[in-house]
Amino acid sequence: NSGLRKSFMLNTFCSKRNVGSSAWKALPERVKIVEVGPRDGLQNEKTVVPTEVKIHLIDMLSEAGLPVIEATSFVSPKWVPQMADQVEVMKGIRRRPGVAYPVLTPNLKGFQEAVKAGAAEVAIFGAASELFSKKNINCSVEESLQRFEEVTKAAKEAGVPVRGYVSCVLGCPYEGKVSPDKVAQVAKRLYSMGCYEISLGDTTGVGTPGGMTEMLEVVSREVPVTALAVHCHDTYGQALANILIALQMGVSVVDSSVAGLGGCPYAQGASGNVATEDVVYMLHGLGIQTGVDLTKVMDAGAFICRSLNRKTSSKVAQASCKL
Ligand code: HMG
Ligand code: MG
Repeated sequence: NSGLRKSFMLNTFCSKRNVGSSAWKALPERVKIVEVGPRDGLQNEKTVVPTEVKIHLIDMLSEAGLPVIEATSFVSPKWVPQMADQVEVMKGIRRRPGVAYPVLTPNLKGFQEAVKAGAAEVAIFGAASELFSKKNINCSVEESLQRFEEVTKAAKEAGVPVRGYVSCVLGCPYEGKVSPDKVAQVAKRLYSMGCYEISLGDTTGVGTPGGMTEMLEVVSREVPVTALAVHCHDTYGQALANILIALQMGVSVVDSSVAGLGGCPYAQGASGNVATEDVVYMLHGLGIQTGVDLTKVMDAGAFICRSLNRKTSSKVAQASCKL
């Protein structure tokens, strides 16, 4: 048995892209990981996490080599009180050269406040579902796109890059099935208004590799696959499989959350994002570069779990058969 395990581990670690399986031919050489834990993770905590804990977490994540760390949100504190310390967080973090710290901005007010607080990149967040849009940002999809036009226009003038999200790409907690055509329409609008990257959110984590394949086929007809990212919550345990499909279809940007923290306050029951530790482990096992130090991400995960007094959701961090 120990021989079997050893041989499995050797296979995992010695595997190189393009060696062996033809299915791997399409995999990217490098993947950019967008760490969303400090935002997607902490927005969903029942208690408000102390500002200094958030700052320390972000600094540990940048030390671990993560190239993009979504730091906070400039949303209404009445809607999401967990992000009410956004200005202090932006002022407190130690900005590492080469690392981007985007923040969520639902409207022009949020954008202006974000820039004032020193944000150099923002993200707008729309949805492919009308009911989710209403619950999450209190307007229809069309109204949200009009607000986002204002943000992208102001951002262009200020030279601030904008990332765009589409939520509910594989299902909606209020509407159920979501058509890939609707996802493609919203993604195309965000891309046309100047978003450099569109992150496709499986907000409730209901998607399977079948749905992911179908959705990406349709969306990539409207937005170049090089401008797409996937953002998989792991509620149904499908996230890594869905990510692998996305990689095989040409996506090379993956959102994830340290320790698997996260969820959306307006998608009850959705669990956290896929854990960064698990994504990094899989990618490195596939011979894909990330620039991320797995041990340091695990340290960051241990830190935030201790601070929140909770167990990690990362399988890699839980694994007791250490290498
Ligand atoms: P509203 O109530 O319709 O806004 O909320 P309003 O324009 O009528 O303004 C009402 C009040 O909010 C006013 O203040 C405004 O000044 C204030 P009052 O006069 O009552 O004192 N306000 C703001 N305050 C701070 N920052 C702002 C801002 N805008 C207005 N930017 C609004 C509309 C969008 C503001 C609200 O619905 C909101 O903040 N929603 C945030 C929801 C959110 O953060 N959800 C979680 C993130 S999305 C997510 O997790 C999904 C994702 O991970 C991808 C995936 O998984 O699929 C990204
Ligand atoms: Mg999310």
